[in-house]
Amino acid sequence: MSDDARVTVERFETPEALAERAADLFAEAAAEACAARGRFRVALAGGRTPTHLHQLLGTPPWVDLVPWASTDLFFGDERCVHECSPERNDLVAREALFAVVDLPPENVHRIDTYRRDGAEAYEGVVRERFGAGPGEIPAFDLVFLGIGSDGHTASLFPGRPEVDEEERLVVKVVGAPQQPPDRITMTLPLLNRARLVVFLATGEKKAAVVARTVGGDRALPAARVAPAEGRLVWLLDAAAASGIGAPR
Ligand code: 6PG
Repeated sequence: MSDDARVTVERFETPEALAERAADLFAEAAAEACAARGRFRVALAGGRTPTHLHQLLGTPPWVDLVPWASTDLFFGDERCVHECSPERNDLVAREALFAVVDLPPENVHRIDTYRRDGAEAYEGVVRERFGAGPGEIPAFDLVFLGIGSDGHTASLFPGRPEVDEEERLVVKVVGAPQQPPDRITMTLPLLNRARLVVFLATGEKKAAVVARTVGGDRALPAARVAPAEGRLVWLLDAAAASGIGAPR
């Protein structure tokens, strides 16, 4: 496992306790970002693992702790499916969070997967909201990520060219090895610029890939998430952590 002091692994007995810790990290990062920079910019993870987190953020105490008017919410990736499809990454956040918190609509940046140039358009939104010019890589205050059992994260899949993208911040993925095949995803240069990246993983099915990833197997895109100047935190339930050594 990486001895990098900027990588920490936190274990939780239940997914519920993990979600509460993730909500606490969200609120802490928001407070720090707004105090330091007047704005909090966060990218939410896709998949189903963050569902409880998104629900918690719309409830006390977290709903009252986050300065929503100064928060910009982005998505690390999106599937190119109908916006009401249950496969959409932003569906749960829309229903459980955006619908219940006092969040100005202009602060929510969903990925428009209907546009042929959706990836370029989203990169433009990111650059515009950060005031980042060409060649600059914006630094998210917080990025949540999930991990697939194949080691993908966001929509960066093993062996795919998007994993090696070094210039663009957001790219289109066509023919991904997992359904749905077409996606839009943030790339590693953008993810690795974040001040804090938090992986969320629960369940026995993730134990082996979490162990390989935390162990540094760079064949896995998730193992290549290493914030250059930020922190990396793994939030795992006991089942997902069962493949890595006991805490020292
Ligand atoms: C995607 C997701 C992906 C997800 C993992 C874990 O669009 O596929 O962004 O990276 O986070 O596959 O998904 P679960 O949380 O559903 O296991």
